Amino acid sequence: MTFKITDIRAREIIDCRGFPTVEVDVWVNGELCGRADVPAGRSTGKREAVELRDGGKRWGGLGTTVAVKNVVDIIRPALVGWDPREQRAIDMLLCQLDGTKNKSNLGANAIVGVSLGVAKAAAKVSGLPFYKYINTNAHIIPVPLVNLINGGKLTSNDLEIQEFIVMPVGANDLKHGLQICYEINLLLRDLIVDKYGKIAVNVGDEGGFAPPMTGINEPMKMLSKAVKASGYADMIIYGMDAAASHWYDWDKCVYCMEGEEMTRDDVIDMYVKLCRDYPIGSIEDPLMEDDFEGHAILTKKLDGVQIVGDDLFTTNVEYIKRGIEVGAGNAILWKFNQVGTLTEALDAADLAYRAGFGVQVSERSGETEDTSIADLSVALNAGQIKTGTTRSERTSKYNQLLRIAEELGSQAYYPGRNFRRPF
Ligand code: PGA
Ligand code: ZN
Repeated sequence: MTFKITDIRAREIIDCRGFPTVEVDVWVNGELCGRADVPAGRSTGKREAVELRDGGKRWGGLGTTVAVKNVVDIIRPALVGWDPREQRAIDMLLCQLDGTKNKSNLGANAIVGVSLGVAKAAAKVSGLPFYKYINTNAHIIPVPLVNLINGGKLTSNDLEIQEFIVMPVGANDLKHGLQICYEINLLLRDLIVDKYGKIAVNVGDEGGFAPPMTGINEPMKMLSKAVKASGYADMIIYGMDAAASHWYDWDKCVYCMEGEEMTRDDVIDMYVKLCRDYPIGSIEDPLMEDDFEGHAILTKKLDGVQIVGDDLFTTNVEYIKRGIEVGAGNAILWKFNQVGTLTEALDAADLAYRAGFGVQVSERSGETEDTSIADLSVALNAGQIKTGTTRSERTSKYNQLLRIAEELGSQAYYPGRNFRRPF
């Protein structure tokens, strides 16, 4: 049977923040076969592929009608007639059509929607679940990184560190792990209400509480109090996304926390102390995104702790290579829209694995009901996923993972403490 892309349609839809984003439908042999929604970041790295926004008055300048038009007028005619299973060739063609290094011509939001839509269409015509189409050996159900306290650019509080996370590494499986994390969340809620009042349990963009805290000690203290009260302390390690570029003063070249200016050494000392006080398993973007040398120093100092590069690497082989060379970090955050095509993102994961780096599949702060990253985390056998806490655009990913775990049955493996090197 031959399969040919017969149509590609695109539309502007709304993401979880009420911002417009792109949705792409890929038709094969006259049937709708693959639909992909494009996520969007807010706490973005400066080396990410560029998403095209319309500018002007409409929707505060955030419109995506130009990106949608690029899909329909430029990408569609180039891809009609292609076999959707030719993912790599199609992605390379998308890069060529754009012609820029950072996808600023057609827009990464146009390109990534097509790239993902094509992959999903190919899975459908192949008669396989999406995760199995990407990798027939997919069987690892990831450890969730559930960010219970939110700060930084994802909230309206003054908490510098963006995400305080629990990882249920001692759980039997994902279902048990989620139960543990959400029970801790319930207890944390009570502690926050007691201390700050009920308005403080409103949630941030990724569904974690956004109380009026600052610094690093207060949130860690309260989080560990909730963990202890839950009785699950021996099953939990902590994670955080410091997103340090966003509390770095780029003019003064210092980090700013609780009104204090800190040097790189001060910040490194802060993490070293924190890792002595708490069982910390993972720290993302601990330093600002240009400081590869600082990341290398910290990675050495915190032997055994996962140091994840998000803004540092932007899922891009060029920067991951640099990180591997100098020993900056030992894991990548994997966000396929940071680089703009699925093939390039899969290549980034391959490179990371070959260097002994971990791969943490991640949501964006702007998500939709599209659950592709759940499938992709299993397809990559990544062993870890960061996809938020409450709010349906986050829990939908966990729910999809629960379905996949059920489908895999006894083949499914939950790596627990081996989340960074699950195989
Ligand atoms: P973003 O942030 O999706 O807003 O870029 C999430 C993160 O920093 O991990
Ligand atoms: Zn991050």
